[in-house]
Amino acid sequence: TGRLTKALQLTLAVIKPDAIAHPVIAEAIHQTILDNNFVIVRCKDLVWKRQDSERFYAEHSERFFYQRLVEFMSSGPMRAYVLAREDAVRHWRDLMGPTKVFQARYTSPACIRARFGLTDTRNTTHGSDSPESAQREISFFFPDFNVEQWLKKEEPLFR
Ligand code: TYD
Ligand code: MG
Repeated sequence: TGRLTKALQLTLAVIKPDAIAHPVIAEAIHQTILDNNFVIVRCKDLVWKRQDSERFYAEHSERFFYQRLVEFMSSGPMRAYVLAREDAVRHWRDLMGPTKVFQARYTSPACIRARFGLTDTRNTTHGSDSPESAQREISFFFPDFNVEQWLKKEEPLFR
C-alpha cells in the first residue's frame, strides 16, 4: 500500500484579479499551494474577455451578483492552476474557505479568503466544487489538457 489513503485528484484553482493585482498576496497564495503538498501540474496567467466570464459562470446568470461577478472576473489578469493531490478538490476548497469573505473571517480566520479577500465578489480565489466540475473547468482553462489521460499515466507514480 502506498502513502496515499485517498484517490489522487486534480482540481482547478484560480487566483482572481483582486489578488493578482497585489504581487505579495498572489505570492502568499502560491506559497499556501506549495505548503499543502499540491503538485502544480499546469500554471498560466491569462485575462478573460467578458464572454469568457459569462460562459464560465453561466450557472449563476440569474443571481443578483452575476453582472458584478462577470465584470470583475474580466477586469484584469488572473492565474490558473491545475493542482494534483489526494483529495485535491475538497482540500483546496477548505484552504480557500467560505465564499463570503465576512463569513470566512468569522468562522475560519486562517483561510485564504478570510486573510486576503476584500468583498464577497473580490474573494481572491476559485476552486472546483467536485471532481466533475474540475474536469469541465480544467478543459475550460486548458483545452489541450486531458484529465483522464493524465490521471491514468501519473496515478501509479504518486504511490
Ligand atoms: P459560488 O459558486 O457560490 O462560490 P464559490 O466560488 O465558493 O464556489 O459563487 C461563485 C462566485 O460568485 C464567488 O466566488 C463570488 C461570487 N459571489 C458573489 O459575488 N456574491 C455572492 O453572494 C456569492 C454567493 C457569490
Ligand atoms: Mg462555485
